[in-house]
Amino acid sequence: MAVQYLTESARRQSQLDLVARGHEVEVGTPDACPLPLADLLQLHAGHPAVVSVHDSGLTAVVYCVRAKGHDWAVKRARPRCLVNNVDGQTSFLNEVQRRAELTALRHAPGGGERFAGVIDTVYASVRRGIIVSPWIEGEPVLQWDERRLEQVFDTGRELVRAGFFEWDFCPGNVMDDGRRVHLFDFGYMYRFDPLRHFNSAGDGLAAPQCHLAERIETRHAFAAFLELEASRGVEAALEAFRMEKRIALRTYRRLAAELRDDGASDAVCRWLGGIADKWDHALAGDLNALYLEEGWRSHVIDLEDDLNGQTCTPATLRRTDWLLSALDTSHMALVKAGALFGSDQGLSATELRSVYEAKRRAAQGFQTTAKAA
Ligand SMILES: Nc1ncnc2c1ncn2[C@@H]1O[C@H](COP(=O)(O)OP(=O)(O)OP(=O)(O)O)[C@@H](O)[C@H]1O
Ligand SMILES: [Mg+2]
Repeated sequence: MAVQYLTESARRQSQLDLVARGHEVEVGTPDACPLPLADLLQLHAGHPAVVSVHDSGLTAVVYCVRAKGHDWAVKRARPRCLVNNVDGQTSFLNEVQRRAELTALRHAPGGGERFAGVIDTVYASVRRGIIVSPWIEGEPVLQWDERRLEQVFDTGRELVRAGFFEWDFCPGNVMDDGRRVHLFDFGYMYRFDPLRHFNSAGDGLAAPQCHLAERIETRHAFAAFLELEASRGVEAALEAFRMEKRIALRTYRRLAAELRDDGASDAVCRWLGGIADKWDHALAGDLNALYLEEGWRSHVIDLEDDLNGQTCTPATLRRTDWLLSALDTSHMALVKAGALFGSDQGLSATELRSVYEAKRRAAQGFQTTAKAA
């Protein structure tokens, strides 16, 4: 099946049209379900097969259902997604679209092994607002270790190579069963051409600052480093960062070689190689400057994301406090490292402080009660 790569705006319009038309996408058949579909469509906390209800997600309510000797995750779309933007409103459709494609990938030769960290879909239907998967017996990843990092980067690399860009590696979307890290929420995973594009934003070349490691750091790892800074000090956070960067570097060297063999453009090869060279250099020398730079970027982008979707939490406020404190202690270092980007460039320390104080007040106003991150 030839993949149709759309620009971000064309993809959004197409998904809005499909949602408005009540377009159906179905994966698998209802007879694969652990219970009759009619039962699954009427699940509630008191249903005898329901073991637990997970309603912290913004798009859906997830039931753990025990039937036929196994546990299953039954994801039911909320009548209205709690993320207040186009991508939020089309995220359930998007997830079922991705699951249809990922199911085909998993069934291709070698796919089961390459995509072992991507959950299987038992049945899914957009119109019925349901996705059924095996239940992952585990915990959301809150802190990273070597195995977890290697697995998430490995799965991420395979996905990029196959033309899938995952934007939301937040803690609520990454589970570990003690042996393997699993991805199971594809609401913000979009198609892109890995041989010509950096990611699925804009026309594919509009946001070179966004890539696999950046996504893992922005949505997840830097929140974990922040936690480490608070509980065990900056040195512990730097050590965790060093481990993450070593694994990211290994992954990017391999990905760059694979994409080159697949026929990637010079622009893509140079871009990936440049990112990896910069990490290599920092790992061999002083990692503090890179920590500051990537930390600034991660917390700024995540804050923007939360403000944009109006999905702020206490973690958003902690990230904003880190930014304010970085301005106080390291403004010159941020300028020197070229870490300030977008509309922050060229602003004085005082101006930046008032910008981020205003953002903190906005984040305070948008605190949601339901958020998985
Ligand atoms: N297959 C699964 N096995 C175990 N737990 C699961 C599974 N699927 C979902 N969950 C649990 O349900 C929660 C919400 O699931 P999911 O992230 O798919 O929903 P969501 O509403 O799309 O989330 P959000 O939009 O906030 O990212 C997860 O954080 C996880 O705790
Ligand atoms: Mg989720």
